[in-house]
Parts: sequence; structure tokens; C-alpha cells
Amino acid sequence: MAVEVARAAGDLLRRELTGPRRIEFKGSPTNLVTEMDARAEALIVDRLLGEFPDDAVLAEERGVQAGRSERRWIIDPVDGTTNYAHGLPLYCVSIALEVAGRVELGVAYDPSHDELFVAERGAGAFCNDARLSVSSAATLERSLLATGFPYDVRSNPDNNVKEYAGFSMRAQGVRRLGSAVLYLAWVAAGRFDGYWELRLGPWDVAAAGLMVEEAGGRLTSLAGGPIELERPTVVASNGRIHDEMLAVLREIRGA
Ligand code: IPD
Ligand code: CA
Ligand code: CA
Repeated sequence: MAVEVARAAGDLLRRELTGPRRIEFKGSPTNLVTEMDARAEALIVDRLLGEFPDDAVLAEERGVQAGRSERRWIIDPVDGTTNYAHGLPLYCVSIALEVAGRVELGVAYDPSHDELFVAERGAGAFCNDARLSVSSAATLERSLLATGFPYDVRSNPDNNVKEYAGFSMRAQGVRRLGSAVLYLAWVAAGRFDGYWELRLGPWDVAAAGLMVEEAGGRLTSLAGGPIELERPTVVASNGRIHDEMLAVLREIRGA
């Protein structure tokens, strides 16, 4: 069901990618939202609650909708909105199912590459039915990393600029592509060796974080502890370079 819904929302987004659209700003000039975020979200929530009316929902644009079951759907209808608003085909749909406070299922659909990522706790992570496993890079020097910058980059001095410079001097390369969900899914797929970001939402991490873990990778907070899903900071990696990444972050940010 979540797979079908993610595909349907992704197909809608792909069809509308180059169409004219209204763009609004959420609080800061770098934080955009398009009418397509709301349309894709409505499609997803309506179909999921049509099928599972007792479940709760946490969706990026509409927020919390309480339910009567122990299940909660965590939804990012468009991850990569800035790309989407520019017609850049690098964005995805993310849907996670949490049961009794633990994410059990993660689905992300990238319509531009027709890639469907699915992870089920204990059953592995897959891309279009091929099992995923993280890369084997053993050192930061041999690693391709990804990161993103928070929407308050201009007003908050804790804005990832120093960390970006630090990792750029130590890794093979650092990419900044504008979709946290795809960075995580691509760590799971072994395309990136590591990824970090300072401030994310639950909808950025819930589904794709499970993919990293199910593909054999490691997922922690910036400090190396468990992820706090409500306000996540994230370091995701193939596991082998994780301690090195945490050490760089400690060095740059202080203990
Ligand atoms: C954003 C993207 C971006 C990341 C931001 C996220 P949105 O999500 O994932 O890559 O750097 O932190 O908020 O707003 O496009 O859904
Ligand atoms: Ca997002
Ligand atoms: Ca979004």
C-alpha cells in the first residue's frame, strides 16, 4: 500500500515538474514550499487514511493528525522542494510507518530515476527489488560524502559551513544535492559512503534512516548517540568510516 501511494505521488510530481506553479516561503527566504507539496501530501494522506482510518499521521506540511491505533505514518511529500521548484529532477517522496514508536517500514520513491527504495525492519533494504548494501570504503580519505545546509543558514551561526569545509579537506569529495532522503537512500545503496546534517525533520529521516540500517550501515546523532526522531541530527555511513566522521565533527564543533 505505502509503495503504491509513494509511486502515485511521485508520478504526479513528475508530470507536474515543468508546469507553472505558485511558490511560497516558510519563514525564511531559503525555505520554499510549492503547491505541489500540498497536492502530493493530500494524495498520500487521503489514500493511507482511506485504507487505515485509525492510524495517526505526521506529514511535513499539515503536521500531526492523531489516530486511534498504535501506528503512525511519517510523510515527506516532496523531499528536495528547492530542486523541484527549479525544475531540477532530484527529489523524492518519503513514507515511513512507525508502530508503537519504532519505524518498521520505510519507502522512498525517486520518480526521475524510477527508483523505489523499500526497507522493512529485519528484512533488509531494496531498490527496485535488488538488495542494498552499504559501500566498503575503509577511510574518509577514500570516501564520497554528502551533506545539506539548514534553512536558517543565514541567521544561525551553527550552519554547517565549518563542517563542510572540514570534510571537504579530508574526504575524496563532498556533494550537496538537496534531498536528505536521497542522501540516506544512496548511503544504503553504497553510492555515498557517508552523510551528515545538522538539523532535519522526522520526515527526512524516518524512512531512509531504516534503509541505512537495513543495508548494514550505521546511523547516529552528530554526537554518536541514537537518533532523536522528533528533532534529528544525523550521521549516516557505511559503518567503517563512522568513527572517523564523528571525530572530525568533534574536532570542528568541540566535544
Ligand atoms: C530538505 C532537503 C534538504 C535538506 C533540508 C531538508 P525539503 O527537505 O532534504 O536536502 O538539506 O534540511 O529540510 O524541505 O526539501 O522537504
Ligand atoms: Ca524533507
Ligand atoms: Ca518536504
